[in-house]
Amino acid sequence: MFTMEERVMTKVFDYKSLDELKNQGEGKYFYIHTYGCQMNEEDSEKLSGMLKRLGYTRTEEKTEAEIILFNTCCVRENAENKVFGNLGQLKALKAKNPDLIVGICGCMMQQEGMADKILKQFPYVNIIFGTHNAYKFPEYLNRVKTEGVQIKEIFNKEEEIVEGLPVDRKSDVKAFVTIMYGCNNFCTYCIVPYVRGRERSRKPEDILKEIKELVANGYKEITLLGQNVNSYGKGLENEVSFAELLRMINEIDGLERVRFMTSHPKDLNDDVIKAIKECGKLCEQIHLPVQSGSNRILKKMNRHYTREYYLLVLNKIKREIPDVALTTDIIVGFPGETEEDFIDTLELVKEVKYDAAFTFIYSRRNNTPADMMLDQVNDEDKHNRFNRLVEAVNSNVIAQNKAYEGKIVEVLVEGTSKNDESKLSGRTRNGRLVNFAAEGVKVGDIVNVTITKAQNFSLIGEVCK
Ligand code: SAH
Ligand code: SF4
Ligand code: F3S
Repeated sequence: MFTMEERVMTKVFDYKSLDELKNQGEGKYFYIHTYGCQMNEEDSEKLSGMLKRLGYTRTEEKTEAEIILFNTCCVRENAENKVFGNLGQLKALKAKNPDLIVGICGCMMQQEGMADKILKQFPYVNIIFGTHNAYKFPEYLNRVKTEGVQIKEIFNKEEEIVEGLPVDRKSDVKAFVTIMYGCNNFCTYCIVPYVRGRERSRKPEDILKEIKELVANGYKEITLLGQNVNSYGKGLENEVSFAELLRMINEIDGLERVRFMTSHPKDLNDDVIKAIKECGKLCEQIHLPVQSGSNRILKKMNRHYTREYYLLVLNKIKREIPDVALTTDIIVGFPGETEEDFIDTLELVKEVKYDAAFTFIYSRRNNTPADMMLDQVNDEDKHNRFNRLVEAVNSNVIAQNKAYEGKIVEVLVEGTSKNDESKLSGRTRNGRLVNFAAEGVKVGDIVNVTITKAQNFSLIGEVCK
């Protein structure tokens, strides 16, 4: 619970600062590389939105960019290694174009000592900022351009929520809408609470306003984002529960589909399940990370639920919401995980029959409790378990897709197919990817599609006439 003093404050972004510099980017290009999760993608859409307001154009070619920005992730070591690799490659570009401005931001920068480490190794970086001050990027950029200074500014503590930033969205059909920032859960393996700060919820009126504007601009689907959406609303002046927020969003005319992520099994309650069941716009899809099937490991992870409780919640969801797709995140090789613990996870996966699962090898993160545990699992066991888990997950996903052959599904058309430009692609309400011939259909339409063939991880179909 928040006290009055701790209550989350909101401020509105000051557009004047952008408008004064409006011509800065005319005829110039910027390149953004986003690592990590949807939270970072959403932040990048705002960084891109601000740069476009400054007159810049987005490019996918680093060589033509005046600004190169890396929005970083540090959830696992390999995410960080990618950033280091890509930063090294910029040296040659910088030598060719001394006017190139390199910026690094995001979660990785919030780790103690990381910004200095980067500046030492890559002295040509011009701007470094963190997750709490991204809205200041235009100001930093202007100072680099006009004063020639190098900027490193990272706030250790979360500030007010900044509303009203310009957003440059990737899709014209579906959009991410962040409903809360930060995390209070401190799972022992996870660095997110340290780099994203404490939980802060946006006011429902700000969220509803953003969604209504999206709908007015033709958007059909939104995905509500938060590290733990089920604890939405705590600390607001007028507390609102997540289920209540869902019901308010469901009333928005013209909106077709609503998804959300991520739910924590300990907090997903009956009200939310009931809301999904009763609200037509809420899609039949729930991402419920289990992390491990072993009670011993769940306890060491500080997850606050048991395998039995998790299965109870899941079975309730399956009972109440027909055709629901269930997805999850799983970590193998957490400190102290034995073969028996791993078998518990494997059996849970076989029992639940997930529609998709994101599987990860445990990665030690500096200053997290699990990093200090003495019983770290060796690499060989980690990889061996990972391969067995992926096989179990995939064989089930493939079997589930096969069962769709001959069925008719409702698809929101999102764009052209990645592998075949002559085809369109979209998703079913429960999140399955479907590719189909484009005749008579356009992006943004909702159509019924007969599934003619199941691929391993997608479906092929024909639009019903
Ligand atoms: N808040 C969300 C997402 C957190 S990050 C949630 O609670 O599910 C996404 C996933 O990364 C986590 O669910 C977890 O499975 C994985 N992850 C986090 N820290 C990790 C680590 N140190 N090593 C391996 N996987 C990790
Ligand atoms: Fe990390 Fe756990 Fe918070 Fe998810 S709930 S962000 S895994 S600490
Ligand atoms: Fe997301 Fe990575 Fe940050 S997973 S919250 S971008 S550490």
